[in-house]
Amino acid sequence: MSSHGKVKRLTVPQIVDRKGQDPIVCLTAYTAPIARAMDSHVDLILVGDSVAMVLHGMDDTLGITLDHMIMHGQAVMRGSDRALVVVDMPFGAYEESPEVAYRNAARIMQETGCTAVKMEGGKRLAETIAFITERGIPVMGHIGLLPQSVHAKGGYRIVGRDQSEWDAIEEDACAVAEAGAFAVVLEGVAEPLAVKITESIAIPTIGIGASNQCDGQILVVDDMLGLTERTPSFVKEYGQMHQNIEDAVVNYAREVKARVFPGPNHVFHMKGVTKLRVSNQ
Ligand code: KIV
Repeated sequence: MSSHGKVKRLTVPQIVDRKGQDPIVCLTAYTAPIARAMDSHVDLILVGDSVAMVLHGMDDTLGITLDHMIMHGQAVMRGSDRALVVVDMPFGAYEESPEVAYRNAARIMQETGCTAVKMEGGKRLAETIAFITERGIPVMGHIGLLPQSVHAKGGYRIVGRDQSEWDAIEEDACAVAEAGAFAVVLEGVAEPLAVKITESIAIPTIGIGASNQCDGQILVVDDMLGLTERTPSFVKEYGQMHQNIEDAVVNYAREVKARVFPGPNHVFHMKGVTKLRVSNQ
């Protein structure tokens, strides 16, 4: 709430009300400038633990800590004022017990000012989700492909391509919804199963590598901007930022070597000498 008592950010009930209506637009962000660029165009910003790979160059999400997540959560909160911000609970911050999960979720909320936290897991997390939501912390669930379980699963595997897996995943979705999560990410879930889950649970489903029939979509922002070198097959690149950055750096290096940069407009002249009116050379 602002100092004028006016709620500016989208709220959890507003997101929940979009179920089956207007698709919920979500992206990840980890820094203030990127959050600022997307804030008026998205409904929900996730400070995802994908920051481990995307910004910190780690091999997987396991190395990111609570302190890292809080720092990135604070940056995204500073860069946004409309979107609902959810901060991912990192590996090791919630699995031990509902009490540990509550303490760490409360710390994230207090130190970042975000609206909700997200955690990975289905049935096994139901007790924890209930414990936390009953104490006033909104939780977003995350089922299907669970990146924090990469070692236990032996890799990143799409789920539900074999129908024998469907019951377990549907049970996960129901458990998370019944435990009180306000929305659930379906990651790497075969399309027909994602549709079935979306139709059968009462909370919004947010798809990533799932189905356009989910109640909303999320992507890792660096993937959709074309900033990552290898993008997963389910990602559509809406920009070519990696190439743009490389082109800009090549131009900069060329101009530095040719002593073209800094030009007359990029240096400080003596008092009384008028700045040259030339284009941004
Ligand atoms: O960490 C992340 O970016 C996520 C999304 C893939 C949903 O959890």
